Amino acid sequence: MLSHVSVMLEECLDALKVVDGGIYFDGTLGGGGHSCEILKKSSPNGRLFATDLDDYALQRAGERLKEFGERFTPIKSNFKNFKQIKEEYHIEGFDGILLDLGVSSFQLDDRSRGFSYLSAEEELDMRMDRNNPLSAKVIVNTYSQEELKNIFSLYGEERFSNSIAKNICLERQRKTIETVGELNAIIEKSIPAKFKKDGHPSKRTFQALRIEVNGELDGLYETILDMARGLKKGGRLAILTFHSLEDRIVKRAFKELETDCICDKSLPVCVCGKKKEINIITKHPILPSEEELSKNSRSRSAKLRIAEKI
Ligand SMILES: C[S@@+](CC[C@H](N)C(=O)[O-])C[C@H]1O[C@@H](n2cnc3c(N)ncnc32)[C@H](O)[C@@H]1O
Repeated sequence: MLSHVSVMLEECLDALKVVDGGIYFDGTLGGGGHSCEILKKSSPNGRLFATDLDDYALQRAGERLKEFGERFTPIKSNFKNFKQIKEEYHIEGFDGILLDLGVSSFQLDDRSRGFSYLSAEEELDMRMDRNNPLSAKVIVNTYSQEELKNIFSLYGEERFSNSIAKNICLERQRKTIETVGELNAIIEKSIPAKFKKDGHPSKRTFQALRIEVNGELDGLYETILDMARGLKKGGRLAILTFHSLEDRIVKRAFKELETDCICDKSLPVCVCGKKKEINIITKHPILPSEEELSKNSRSRSAKLRIAEKI
């Protein structure tokens, strides 16, 4: 049975200050690990609304959390629909909101999903939502060389993005690129030997494709603003990121929300109307403990940032 070990579970619960009767939102339900603890800690009257794009995650977590009855509401949706969901369920404000970004271990470990560069035989897929018409195979076989290069360089920070994009376009003239293994072989020959020491050569390209397939960074900044504004006074927003591109967006959004009046200092009164909306609780992100790192290698790149609505 595939499983997912929740990252920085205790730290996230502390961050959210979960209490009985509180109303919570978990945008990334996954295996339901964080959700389960939020529900336990907010018992007997707390409520949790949770979204995921992945039917399998919703089904599994739904089973796991069914003991909580009506206190738990799973929703198949993108967490970027937060504002609409809040309205639809008539929630005035949340006490706590959690995002644990990226993919779960069971998505990565289920070889048939094509998320991992280790599943050589599998079709290039990487969709969290299997109804999404855009898969990694579509991108690799239809995007222009320029578009591929831009994605690999922007979302994968891959220095050989140009060469990988060029070789993909050459190869697909010969035949459609179908599997993870076929893409691995193209990447392998596009990166000079002396630069292959830094982890698996496909790591950055696969990260880039996954971000593009699932639109992971699109609208994230705006959603963070919406979420902070959707909290009650004193409510907490906790976000776990796993790579620098996500973390930078969270940091920038928190900064924007924390900034007060931006008028020129020479003006006698404020004309911009901008008001500080949150306190940033984590001046520096919280990192996993040594103990967690030794037990769960997937926590390695995690960073937790917390904000509190004022
Ligand atoms: C890292 S896992 C969450 C694990 C969970 N916190 C736990 O403890 O089991 C991320 C989950 O969020 C989902 N996800 C990622 N981006 C999403 C989005 N924009 N909207 C909804 N779900 C998303 C993925 O499908 C995946 O199941």
